[in-house]
Formats: sequence, structure tokens, C-alpha cells
Amino acid sequence: MNVVFLGAPGAGKGTQAENVKDHFGLKHISSGDLLRESLKKETDLGLKAKAYMDRGDLVPDEIVFAMIQEKLPAKQGVLFDGFPRNLEQAKQLDQVFSNLEDKIDTVINLDVKEDLVVDRLIARGRKDDNPEVIKNRLDVYRKQTQPLCSYYETQGKLFTIDASESVEQVWDNIKVCLERKHG
Ligand code: AP5
Repeated sequence: MNVVFLGAPGAGKGTQAENVKDHFGLKHISSGDLLRESLKKETDLGLKAKAYMDRGDLVPDEIVFAMIQEKLPAKQGVLFDGFPRNLEQAKQLDQVFSNLEDKIDTVINLDVKEDLVVDRLIARGRKDDNPEVIKNRLDVYRKQTQPLCSYYETQGKLFTIDASESVEQVWDNIKVCLERKHG
């Protein structure tokens, strides 16, 4: 089972990824976490990514892809969280899986209204959770990431879940969706 989580900043991708990886035994690959770790360790890639992350812009594809590729192939299935983020990344990911004679089989779109995610992010208070940067992250999401819903819908892989409900309810709905798809 190889799964992608799509959804706006604050939709709950990271929160639900913890549940999914434990329950289904998947390897969790979060591009945001990988970038923040690299930044903390002050690696070349991390330092190059910093200014983009501080502004809430997407980090260039080649930097993100280098980090993702280090994690593949995985023995177990994979759960991608925050990746892919644009059409180019989605196509690159499909190519990598095709080279491995494997594929992404389910894409879960965590759908939630913007005013709700702004409240969640402000309450969380990560470095990039301030009103100006959140606004840009949401703009970037709308322009570059949301179009991936049609990309995966065309492939018959997209499942949309209402992510405005409680953490427990959203998790129940994701679990039902993945169990139905994968038996
Ligand atoms: P990234 O780390 O991916 O951040 P993001 O997409 O903005 O996602 P968040 O972590 O803010 O939200 P989430 O959906 O995971 O929600 P969470 O579960 O944490 O990216 C950060 C930056 O890195 C980007 O801006 C970009 O610069 C760069 N980057 C990353 N990936 C990249 C890529 N592929 N290409 C290029 N650049 C990339 O929840 C948020 C809060 O809400 C938490 O406090 C949580 O407790 C709460 N919450 C969650 N669910 C619920 C619920 N159902 N009810 C109430 N509260 C909830």
C-alpha cells in the first residue's frame, strides 16, 4: 500500500499520518519534517531550503526530491505527507514508482475550510505559523498543490475526507477508506 496525503496547511496530514503509519505499518515520509531536520542539522540542502520555508514558498523541486529519493525504496508500503506538492513532483514520484515496478495506489485529500486551518495553525505556533506566512502557504497550496486533486482523480486514486471533524472522526473515516480499498 503506497498512500499520499493531500491537504492544505493545517488540514491534519501530520496528525493523521501518525495513526495511519502505526495502524497499517507504513513508512512515513514527510517532506516538511525532512526539511526541518536538515535545517536543524545545518546541512547544505537544509540551509538552501530555509528562506523558502520562512516565506512559506515551495522549496525547489530538486532539493525536496533529493531528500525523498534517499528514503526509497522502502521494504514496507509508504505514506507520503506533504509530498508531492506540485505537478512536477507528482510526475517525478510516479516515475520513481514505475521504475520500482510499483505505484501510488491511494490518495487521501483532507478537505477543510481555510478559516479553520488558520485557527489551527495560529494555535500550534510553529515558526511558519504566523498570519503573513500562513496566507502565503495557503496561496501556494491553492495555486500549486490543489490541482493535484484532478491529477489523481483522473487516475481513479483520489478519496476526499472531511477534515473539519474531530481528530478521532477523521481517523475513523481514513481507516474505513483504506480498509475498503485494500481489504
Ligand atoms: P509542511 O511541514 O508540509 O507543512 P504544511 O503542509 O504547511 O502542513 P502543516 O504541518 O502545517 O499541516 P498538517 O496538514 O500536517 O497539519 P497538522 O497535522 O500538523 O511544509 C512546511 C514548509 O516546507 C512548506 O511551506 C515548504 O516551504 C516546505 N515544503 C514541505 N514539503 C515540500 C515539498 N514537497 N515541496 C516543496 N516545499 C516543501 O495539524 C496542524 C494543527 O492542527 C496541529 O496543532 C494539530 O494538532 C491540529 N489538528 C489536526 N487535525 C485536527 C482536527 N481534526 N481537529 C482539530 N485540530 C486538529
